Amino acid sequence: MLLESLFAGETFSGRFPNPSFSFLNTIKQYINEEFSEGDPVVVSSQISYFELTRRMKQIRTRIYEDQSLKLYLFPLFESFDMDPDDLYVDLFRLRCVPAGFHMASGSESVLYIHRDPWYANPENQINLWIPITLVKPGAGFAIYPSYFSTPISNNSHLFDYSHWMETGGFQASTHSRLAEKVFPKPDAFPNDPHRFSVSGDFGDYFLFSSHHLHGTEENNQGFSRFSLEIRLVLGEAIRNHRGPKNTDNHSTGTTLFDMKHIKTGEILSQDIIQNYVKSSALL
Ligand SMILES: [Fe+2]
Repeated sequence: MLLESLFAGETFSGRFPNPSFSFLNTIKQYINEEFSEGDPVVVSSQISYFELTRRMKQIRTRIYEDQSLKLYLFPLFESFDMDPDDLYVDLFRLRCVPAGFHMASGSESVLYIHRDPWYANPENQINLWIPITLVKPGAGFAIYPSYFSTPISNNSHLFDYSHWMETGGFQASTHSRLAEKVFPKPDAFPNDPHRFSVSGDFGDYFLFSSHHLHGTEENNQGFSRFSLEIRLVLGEAIRNHRGPKNTDNHSTGTTLFDMKHIKTGEILSQDIIQNYVKSSALL
């Protein structure tokens, strides 16, 4: 079964099924409208960071407010053998990575290699990465699969999810306490002969366990990349404590209270969440 393979570290790429294309087309349209003076991948690399942040916020708001958008994803989830009746997701994350962003000061933390669980995400979270515009090989993100079951020394013990939220959360860029934020990273650069780059274009997807060690790559392709990330868990896997073993994550707190049932918007019960968190903690 696909979920079992994901939990074992396998990754999957493919194309959106036709009925799910309305999801992509709508997001593309929002982007085109917000960068209407030209090609969004060019315009977004030329405007100021402040202006880019403002426009991205507008687009994200439209995505969050469009209640019917997620319905188009159901055929995609079903093609993964994932039942939308048991699926929990947090806010869809639309990102724009401008050309040459890695040269700007303060961009280091964006490039940090990490496992999402170091940021208090559940060990069995699955990430669905969706390029909205062309992302050439080397300009997307990299996975270090050799570390899937091998620990790597890191500073995730400094990460506390409640402090993270007090200082602006995941998409903060202007919060007054931004400088206090802890971005977990490995103590030394990983050495993995099997490292590979994830890239793609409109209509593609890439599915992987967020327990994989991974990190954003520099953007040297000469224009921006827009991509969307959907973080999901299956209720059944949380209830039954299924998924990759915690190898090296010492973060505090959990994002599970932010993960909402894709149909009803409800969260898992406090007991179920706390049992899961307890079961995945390192002693
Ligand atoms: Fe990540």
